Amino acid sequence: MSEYATSISTTAERLAVTSAAGAAPGKEWVIVSRGLKREYDMGGEIVRALRGVDLAIRRNEYVAIMGPSGSGKSTLMNLIGCLDTPNAGEYWLNGTLVSEMSDDQLARVRNKEIGFVFQTFNLLPRASALQNVELPLVYAGMSADERKRRAMEALDKVQLAQRVHHRPNELSGGQRQRVAIARALVNSPSILLADEPTGNLDSQTSEEIMRVFEDLARQGQTVVMVTHEPDIAAHARRVVVLRDGVIASDETREQFIERVGLTHSSH
Ligand SMILES: Nc1ncnc2c1ncn2[C@@H]1O[C@H](COP(=O)(O)OP(=O)(O)OP(=O)(O)O)[C@@H](O)[C@H]1O
Ligand SMILES: [Mg+2]
Repeated sequence: MSEYATSISTTAERLAVTSAAGAAPGKEWVIVSRGLKREYDMGGEIVRALRGVDLAIRRNEYVAIMGPSGSGKSTLMNLIGCLDTPNAGEYWLNGTLVSEMSDDQLARVRNKEIGFVFQTFNLLPRASALQNVELPLVYAGMSADERKRRAMEALDKVQLAQRVHHRPNELSGGQRQRVAIARALVNSPSILLADEPTGNLDSQTSEEIMRVFEDLARQGQTVVMVTHEPDIAAHARRVVVLRDGVIASDETREQFIERVGLTHSSH
């Protein structure tokens, strides 16, 4: 617990980092955005999905991003994951300005630094759990033995070592999501990003998946998770609420639970 307490940066520290426009943040900051904007031009009508997001996340933090539908959560996750480009603002990933990265650097970052987990699992239906988890390593040009060793290790981390030869349709929803988490982890990314990872799961299975995230966070994995459920968000150490494309609140789990009045016994 005390380890988490010290790894959660104070508001003052974050403010200092996000307001220092143009300056490279220190290495302990995995994610720093300053005035990040994303607009979509829908045939003349401009949709302002993000209207200036200042966000600083340190290594080892476990952050939930909450907010109503359309508030910009997925848009922000796609920018953080380097899958999309902002219209304005700065995004620094591990101390490097993403807008100045070459295509090669970006491809490397997407494959090695970011692990993505989606609501719909996105597994290959004809491939086994093991083959699904090995996939990101195939692009890295690694030997078959080494791939298998690393994939088994990742599957072990999500307690799925007993089901490695099952295909997705031979696994439960929770097990499928574990495979997806193992796949996201197999390259030891500096950030694990999850967009509504429990959106397709019942509440008991959701709790199970939250225990996996909890374990990973405890082992030092930086986790950013999107959810619109307060119960799920309350598993993270810090809760950021987006509203209409800007950050409406940024609190510790305790402050968040207190404010929204959650009374869940496991929190
Ligand atoms: N590719 C796109 N083209 C045009 N508008 C888009 C696009 N993607 C998102 N938007 C708009 O941007 C806003 C933010 O969308 P986003 O998907 O980030 O919301 P969200 O918070 O993830 O919502 P949800 O909880 O429903 O997933 C919405 O108004 C949406 O309609
Ligand atoms: Mg979304």
